[in-house]
Amino acid sequence: MVKAKEWTFYKNHTAPKGFFLPKDKVCISPNDRGFMFADGVYEVIRTYNGKFYRLPEHLKRFQRSLDALRIDFSDVPLIETAIKELLARNKLQTGDATIYIQVTRGVWQRSHEFPPKSVRPTVYVEAARFAPRKEYTRLGIAAITASDIRWGRCDIKAVGLLPNVLARQQAVENGAAEAIFVRDGVITEGTHTNVFGVLAGEVITHPRTNYILAGITRETVLHLCAAYNIPICETFIPECNLAKLDELFLAGTTTEIMPVIKVNGKPIGKGRPGKITKALQVAFRDHVLSASR
Ligand code: PDD
Repeated sequence: MVKAKEWTFYKNHTAPKGFFLPKDKVCISPNDRGFMFADGVYEVIRTYNGKFYRLPEHLKRFQRSLDALRIDFSDVPLIETAIKELLARNKLQTGDATIYIQVTRGVWQRSHEFPPKSVRPTVYVEAARFAPRKEYTRLGIAAITASDIRWGRCDIKAVGLLPNVLARQQAVENGAAEAIFVRDGVITEGTHTNVFGVLAGEVITHPRTNYILAGITRETVLHLCAAYNIPICETFIPECNLAKLDELFLAGTTTEIMPVIKVNGKPIGKGRPGKITKALQVAFRDHVLSASR
């Protein structure tokens, strides 16, 4: 069977207007700042049944990340048009998909300072079918803790993800699905998720600081807690209190709300998905269904 073409969107110094082309035809220069320095930002967006989930919020965060790195790119509306077209070209108007967007500082000879202003950013966008891990969502996952050796601007969605890669690999090698970062004795977030504990009926999560990404799903969880009268507090969870938690769960675009039933081999609460986590999963599903109708 001939594999269907995977359409992507690409814009760089040789194609300033940008164009759609099959993924196997994309050519990115070895001198791209993303390749040389991880000098770029990204976003991951979900669609449910062909409808974007909180697209304006993702694009706003994307612009914020670009501005934080002083990448001179204000053409986010162009990206919005491109991702809509990509859904159609890749026949993703129904079912679930993810969109990946990356913008780097462009192509220039390797030198640490910014290139001249005439160098324009490189833009790359792809869309792919997404199959959620339903058994993880239902049964919960095991996690490990890992030292948070990331830089001090985890609020920027930058492409330099080496600590996340190493920690996730360590999780996988230990039979776990996620690594939860610990900085100064406190749980910050996961390698690609935000982390929530439940203690005596109250949901707790790291405050929105430079040490975590302000997750779009995290924000949804905060809203859902408020809507369903579940007490929520943005406060630190010391690693030493993990064993005392009744429940633990993750939240993220590709993870949705996922129970964590074990950390470092030790059960959390009763060692199965907890009541509040399950209630939030149901609330999240309802919310997504109504948002994507
Ligand atoms: N990651 N924290 C980190 C470090 C993340 O990378 C992500 C998302 C989140 C959750 O944010 P959101 O709810 O907006 O997806 C938290 C994406 C999905 C990724 O890197 O694949």
